[in-house]
Formats: sequence, structure tokens, C-alpha cells
Amino acid sequence: MAVTGELTEQFAHAVLPETTSEEYSRQEFVKSLKFHLASTVSLGIKAAYQVRAQPQFKQAKGREPETYREVQHAMAGEPYYQFWSAMQRNSQEMMWKAAQVPVERQLPSLIDAFKNASGSKGSLTLDPTLETPRYHRLVDIHCMPGGYHTEFAEEDIANGAVYDRAVYVYVMGRMGPLNSDIGDSTANFIKAKFPDLKPRRILDMGCGVGHSTLSYVDAYPDAEVHGIDVGAPMLRYAHARAESLGKPVHYSQQNAEKMNFPDGYFDLIVSHILVHETSHVAIRNIMRETNRLLSPGGVVAHTETPPYRQLEPFDAFMLDWDTRNNNEPFWGASHEIVPADMAEETGFEGAKAFEGLQPSAYESADAQRTKVFQGGDFGGGGAWYIWGVQK
Ligand SMILES: C[S@@+](CC[C@H](N)C(=O)[O-])C[C@H]1O[C@@H](n2cnc3c(N)ncnc32)[C@H](O)[C@@H]1O
Repeated sequence: MAVTGELTEQFAHAVLPETTSEEYSRQEFVKSLKFHLASTVSLGIKAAYQVRAQPQFKQAKGREPETYREVQHAMAGEPYYQFWSAMQRNSQEMMWKAAQVPVERQLPSLIDAFKNASGSKGSLTLDPTLETPRYHRLVDIHCMPGGYHTEFAEEDIANGAVYDRAVYVYVMGRMGPLNSDIGDSTANFIKAKFPDLKPRRILDMGCGVGHSTLSYVDAYPDAEVHGIDVGAPMLRYAHARAESLGKPVHYSQQNAEKMNFPDGYFDLIVSHILVHETSHVAIRNIMRETNRLLSPGGVVAHTETPPYRQLEPFDAFMLDWDTRNNNEPFWGASHEIVPADMAEETGFEGAKAFEGLQPSAYESADAQRTKVFQGGDFGGGGAWYIWGVQK
């Protein structure tokens, strides 16, 4: 489904935090600052590279930088890059704060809205005994205070609410009023690549607040849709959000490395921007687990930004900003995954692996895209990288 029409405000479902005019203008300021950094300030980094860092590297080594790591070493002391990077990091910190303040102010009423959630035939199953994976306990992922799992109150949904609003600011509204671009684009890719796939059950791993999950309710109306995540506040919020939007989803708190569904239960398993937030070991566990859970002929697909091997070294260096500056320790390594090798390693047939770039489903956002892949400009490239394997 291609989405047309003008870019609009974020859709006000039952648990979207309300903002006062002051809170709203603070969030809008962060959005504008991010857009300015991505579309204008960042252009000077390439100029600084070409004028200073690249010639200096060439003089020292007698050749051009060949990898993004070499570009990174060449650029480390470049003041223009340092300035952009500091501003980028600040915009990230400002974004979380600007999203947190309204949530803190109205948390009791948001929790009430969660408790009263109804309207669809979805469900929510939490597991208070589930251990949060080490790769989430050790860092506040992408500088989000408390990450996805921390609970500040009984039946807390705070970090789900913060995440929902912050993502809208982070992507500068370009993923649509429901932040659904990644799910919509991935569903389009799967429908085109596997036209005969008629999934009875679909699983979205690392579903978060369900930004991408709901796309599958629309794309495959006859399927039963499940979403799992490790973070209880995300899932409570996801459940209340889906109920308010009238989309039936079965959410449960599980680690994608080891789930409680029976063998062969799903015909389609997807993840959206999950892989880069796991670890070297975890992604292999997840792939083995999806192998167990898929029916014969079933498909697993993961959506991320493009792998570094498809980019020029300078562009890969820019996209890699998050690894070193935004508490995304597995970002870089996840962009070096080779689908066929990963498939072989985890019990699939390498020959049945696939990868591709899918244009964003949200066409009307194109005018605001920078068309480059760079740290802090998520979705700016206007295409999503989808890789996976058919069982
Ligand atoms: C960047 S968010 C993406 C959310 C959602 N997929 C989307 O498209 O908006 C990553 C999510 O994956 C979850 N996650 C990370 N590791 C996980 C794991 N091992 N098992 C289940 N969920 C996980 C996090 O809690 C978080 O909600």
C-alpha cells in the first residue's frame, strides 16, 4: 500500500500523551533542529572530508580511505564533524526530555487509559519473571532513559508513551501519523516477493509499541497477528494503542531468543529495527528460534537501514554514527551481516536467503527526505533494507 496525501500530525489515539502548547513547541523545536542538522549542517561534513581529511589521509598512506573505519579515523579530529556530532547528540538528549515531560505530568491518567483499554479482540500476556537481556540492561539504548524495560510505577506505560512520541519527533513525522512506515514498507516487500504466501499466523518480534505490527493486521486481514517484546511498559502501551485503533493483536512479553510458541506455529515472522539492538550471540539465537517456529515455506524478514557493503565508505561512516555516539553498541556489526551466511549458520539453506531495498510506503514524506543514509536521520534515505530467508 502506498500512502499518499499530505504529512499530518501524529494520530491522537487513546494513549498518545497530550501536550500543552509549551510542551508541543519544545518538541517541534527538536524536530526542526534535527531537520536542519540532517538537511543543511550535515552537508558541510562531506566538504570538510574532501578538503581536509581525505587529502591528509592520502598524503600519509599514498591511497584513498577504503573502509568506513578508515574514514572514521581520518575524520576523528575534524572540527566541523565534531560540531555536527555534538549537536546531533544534544538533539537526541533534548528529544527524550521533550517527550518525557508531558508523560510524567499525565502518567496516572495514561495508566488509567491502559487499564480501560478495550475495543478490539486483542490480548496482553505479561511475564514478570522474564529476565531483561544483558544488552538492554547495560546501556540506555539510544540514550532513552531507562530503556524499554524500566518501570517507574505500578502497571507502568511511561516508556511506551515516551517512545511513541519521541519516534515521531526523531523521524520528523516522515513515517506517517502512526509511525507505521517500516511495517507498511516491509509488508509491501513481502507481498511483492512472496505473492503466494497466505500467512495464517504472523509474529512481529521486538514489536515495541506496535508501530509496525498493525501494518500486518491491515495487509493480511485473515491472519492472527502476534507481537512479542521484552519490555512490559512497551507492551502495555502497545495493547492499549491497538485496542483504541480497533486492531486485534496478541501481545506477549517474551525474549525473541527463546519463545513459548510451538514448533511451526507461524507462516511469517518479521522484525523491524530489532536486529541492530540485539547482539552477535542474540541475533543467531533469534534466527535459530525463528527456524523452529516457521512452518515449511514460511518466511522470516528483518528490516533495517542498508548494510555498509552497499554504501560508499564515507556514507557508511556517516550511518555508523550511532554505534559510537548514541548507545547503539551492535549497530555497526549488525550492518555487516550477510544474509546467506547468517542463514547457513542458523540451520536454514543459504540459497533461500534474500535481501532488498524497499522504497518507503509513505510517499508524501519524500519532499522532506535527505535521500542519504546518515546517523540521526532515520528514514532520510527513503528506503528500507529487508533481509531474511524462506524455510
Ligand atoms: C527500536 S525498537 C523497534 C520497535 C518496533 N519493532 C518498531 O518497528 O517500531 C526495538 C524493540 O525490540 C525490543 N527487543 C530488543 N531485544 C529483544 C529481544 N531479544 N526479544 C524481544 N524484544 C526485544 C525492544 O524492547 C524494543 O521494544
